[in-house]
Amino acid sequence: MPDRRQFLRLAGGGAVCAATAPLAACSSALPPEATAAWAGPGANETDPRRWALAHAILAPHSHNLQSWLVDLRRQGEITLFCDRERLLPETDPLSRQMMMSQGTFLELLALAAAERGHRAEVVLFPQGEFAPDTIDGRPTAQIRLVPDAAVRRDPLFAQVFRRRTNRFAYDAARAPDPAALQAIAAAMAPWPEVRAGFTDPRDTAALQRHRAVAVEAWRIELTTPRTILESYRWLRIGPAEIARRRDGISLNDPMVRALSVLGLFDRTKAPTPDDATTTGQLKDFNAKIAATPAFFWMATEGNTRTTQVNAGRAYLRAQLAATAQGLSMHPLQQALQEYPEQARTYADIHTLLRAPRPTHTVQMWTRLGYGPAVEPAPRRGLQAHLLAA
Ligand SMILES: Cc1cc2nc3c(=O)[nH]c(=O)nc-3n(C[C@H](O)[C@H](O)[C@H](O)COP(=O)(O)O)c2cc1C
Repeated sequence: MPDRRQFLRLAGGGAVCAATAPLAACSSALPPEATAAWAGPGANETDPRRWALAHAILAPHSHNLQSWLVDLRRQGEITLFCDRERLLPETDPLSRQMMMSQGTFLELLALAAAERGHRAEVVLFPQGEFAPDTIDGRPTAQIRLVPDAAVRRDPLFAQVFRRRTNRFAYDAARAPDPAALQAIAAAMAPWPEVRAGFTDPRDTAALQRHRAVAVEAWRIELTTPRTILESYRWLRIGPAEIARRRDGISLNDPMVRALSVLGLFDRTKAPTPDDATTTGQLKDFNAKIAATPAFFWMATEGNTRTTQVNAGRAYLRAQLAATAQGLSMHPLQQALQEYPEQARTYADIHTLLRAPRPTHTVQMWTRLGYGPAVEPAPRRGLQAHLLAA
């Protein structure tokens, strides 16, 4: 996203929004239809599967792709597929993050089912696991919701509607409370194969190494034409586009909208490394990283498709637990991505986090801290995910 000051300069100052759109349309609040799914299922939803699914679609997903397709034809069951029209082949060439994003969905589904007195029996890859480097049309999971008086409601459920990915700057002076870190790690207990890690606020050298890898990985992603263009494909600019698509990453700042309308932000062309769009965005990101008081990560020994899904399940729990503690997370997947230009940062982050390759994989790495309030991200609504009813 171009630097805001650059917008001002390019587009002639603060009057630009008024010049290109009615004043009432100059708010950066998202259009209500884009976030309607955050109202949850209607009170009259009687099918426990639909009720649970209306929650599951609020799960975090890489780039907000919402690659979840569900088949409800089998009574009392849900078959989950990964929508292969919604992948990130450049930045997630092995679809590892896609599998994690199936996991976040499954975990939220299970939490919601428990809330309504159902145990979610989840069988992963009922027709076999995908190959390590590709995914195919087989289901990722078969879920049966079984009424069970003994099922325990999970207190994390209370955070489902409050959870947000927070990309704003965090309070640099405030390291996370140690008890909060313990609560996050404890929330991941159902997935013991996923190891949690946190930076030590006293270890400033380690913090600086985290920051250096994050900054370099982001620079690579922004200056590699095919990876930045992939991000551009999932950018949604302005209320009309955001309301129509209800996925991807929303940009609703009046200045970005104005530039887009004026044709000064062309999403079909990768900016050059010295373009103000790139330098401005790097500067903004680097400032946030410099102000980041802590980092969180999740690593696994092994990296099967099942492990990736379980890592996603653990991440959903970790983020809900962080929310309960007033903490925000912002994933920094760039260095964890398996495309050749990131090979160096990929190796560096694995060394830094003591996750030796090739046996171990860092599945998630995030900024962690106390941040300002954020709006919910768009969702397409349950109907868009139903393969057959
Ligand atoms: C596996 C995974 C990877 C993600 N990677 C990133 C990332 O690298 N950068 C980022 O800003 N957000 C990342 N996110 C967060 C998503 O963009 C976010 O979940 C989505 O935009 C929806 O927003 P919400 O989490 O506020 O509902 C990731 C989420 C998941 C589950």
